[in-house]
Amino acid sequence: MKQQKQIKSKQRVACHGEVFTAEREVNAMLDLVKQETERIDSRFLEPACGTGNFLVKILERKLSVVKKKYRKSPLDYERNSILALSSIYGVELLNDNVEDCQKRLYKIWEKAYKSICKTETNEDVQKSARFILSKNIVCGNALSLMQVDENAKDTETPIVFSEWAFIRGNIIQRKDYTFEDLMRIGSSSNKTESTNEANEQISFSTENPPSDEGKFLKQYTTDYRSLWKDE
Ligand SMILES: C[S@@+](CC[C@H](N)C(=O)[O-])C[C@H]1O[C@@H](n2cnc3c(N)ncnc32)[C@H](O)[C@@H]1O
Repeated sequence: MKQQKQIKSKQRVACHGEVFTAEREVNAMLDLVKQETERIDSRFLEPACGTGNFLVKILERKLSVVKKKYRKSPLDYERNSILALSSIYGVELLNDNVEDCQKRLYKIWEKAYKSICKTETNEDVQKSARFILSKNIVCGNALSLMQVDENAKDTETPIVFSEWAFIRGNIIQRKDYTFEDLMRIGSSSNKTESTNEANEQISFSTENPPSDEGKFLKQYTTDYRSLWKDE
């Protein structure tokens, strides 16, 4: 596979510290939490995700487990590949990086989906995958926890993340939390490691949902094939 460039421009390095991590280092770091990267539903959030060098590798690892377990059953593969995708989160200051990151993750998910599910692929599921990525990979400032505008300046809108969980059969429950609340829950729970340092590569990986203790903003209960209808 083609190596991603580590630097886009000297100006971006100077202004935003934008130097992407090379594949070898990404894999070595992910191997430190190997078991978690291979658990389909373990949640990862990268607070300065760039174009997604870490997140794409996490998705690839999870999808290879989904393939191993469910390749004989397209419907189970589909459902679990959505679960894997929905567990990956990123925050990034620069809008073009956010778009690149969403596109890279989608391409990986879509390629694997089409190769396993072949004639059983469904456009609605693909729309749901794109919808999840539009919610999970956010253009924002991981230090102020606010969304940013096209000039990377803070807006008045807080970063919001959706917690996705299959609650029965094909039904996904989506709960929206502010990033600030998630950080609070994270720091008061010893199940979760969290940080608001933007230069930490992987912020947290949880075994469990943020928990019901946190106050969420909104809740939706929807078939995983029509998540996009909720907005
Ligand atoms: C050193 S690069 C690392 C990118 C990616 N984690 C990787 O390893 O390839 C840091 C990234 O963080 C972004 N960034 C800088 N400050 C940020 C902040 N306060 N909030 C979110 N992202 C930020 C930059 O635009 C850049 O893409």
